[in-house]
Amino acid sequence: IMKVILVNIKELVQVEEEARAWVAGKEMNELKVLHDAFLVINDDQIENFGLMQDFDETAVDGADMMMEIDCTGKIVMPGYCDSHTHLVFATSREQEFVDRINGLSYEEIARRGGGILNSAKRLEQASEDELYLSAMARLDEIKQLGTTAVEIKSGYGLSVKSELKMLRVIQRLKETSPLTIKSTFLGAHAMPVEYKNKRQKYIQLIIQEMLPEISQQGLADYMDVFCDRGFFSVSETAQLLEAAWKYDLQPKIHANELGLTGGVQVGVQYQALSVDHLEHVGEAEIEALLGSKTMPTVLPGAAFFLSLPLSPVRKMMNAGLPIALASDFNPGSSPSGNMNFIQSLACINYKMTPEEAINACTLNSAYAMGIEKSCGSICRGKLANLFITKVLPGYAAIPYFYGSNPVETVIINGEIY
Ligand code: NIG
Ligand code: FE
Repeated sequence: IMKVILVNIKELVQVEEEARAWVAGKEMNELKVLHDAFLVINDDQIENFGLMQDFDETAVDGADMMMEIDCTGKIVMPGYCDSHTHLVFATSREQEFVDRINGLSYEEIARRGGGILNSAKRLEQASEDELYLSAMARLDEIKQLGTTAVEIKSGYGLSVKSELKMLRVIQRLKETSPLTIKSTFLGAHAMPVEYKNKRQKYIQLIIQEMLPEISQQGLADYMDVFCDRGFFSVSETAQLLEAAWKYDLQPKIHANELGLTGGVQVGVQYQALSVDHLEHVGEAEIEALLGSKTMPTVLPGAAFFLSLPLSPVRKMMNAGLPIALASDFNPGSSPSGNMNFIQSLACINYKMTPEEAINACTLNSAYAMGIEKSCGSICRGKLANLFITKVLPGYAAIPYFYGSNPVETVIINGEIY
């Protein structure tokens, strides 16, 4: 038995006695924090925590190996759960970045065959090993920034061969990276040029060829569709999600980034685990989400990088909804997986409190990737996935010191990095 004991923790953040599924509305502003605390890790799990004054040395009894980490002046948080990324890609897209600086919009670039189609062309040329190694380097980077669980989408393949290639890369990352990884099939990310005038043909390719193969090989946990203006329509999305459920793939979809398109409603109708982006949300969308089990997920990095309108997060929380936050790490709309910066954006641009931002990046985003039973909080029996900060005044200093990395030590499955 290997035990790791963290002592003298200045703030132990997001502790739970009972694991909750998510927090919503006013509760999002509540965060349970222990001051001057300890934490005991047994193998890969959180065994116990409490106040230093109640720390009992016998807690370490029975351990064959024991390690103590002094956390004086430091904060301990559950690792970030980043529930929406596209971090397997071949190359970055700085030329489009410059084109946008010079006045083109994301949608104009996409219409000219840039954007997702550009990434698909590059991915087709890249070998599986290259894709694996570059994605692994990105996982290492986000791990050092405090992320311990991540969802990764396909969607730069857009052909049977390349979608399967991407999903195999994600599978290999799952097998070799310490991070908790969920895999999402996003064949419906953009319409390949050759299908421009025969959209149903591509949709049938997804439904009749990609889905059965992916399901048979067990390569995906979820199914995504980019349901938005200029990409996939509501009825096409319905058709695709209907097919996904036949293979037991729950939807997690891109919705309402570019307009009020009905994406949220079709997501809720098909019991999506999450609907993501939500720059455009009105009363009807809020109404649809209330009472559903679908997690509204906001991606502040994409709105920042593309200068999109900001999702009405406060309005959604006031209506009683939960909010999850994720990075959307991808080469086109959000080339960063830094969840500390996502928290800064949440606080500064969306006026979320640090407590709301932390709930959105841990517990609620764990739900949005289906891992809330094992991740997302400091709770007995959950995985020991957490990070220890440098010496900091308090957890609000994490979003406050924007752009710097507060993380000193990361622990995943009880292993120290
Ligand atoms: O989440 N919105 C759709 N997909 C990605 C962008 C992908 C890309 O531009 O490469 C997103 O923003
Ligand atoms: Fe995305």
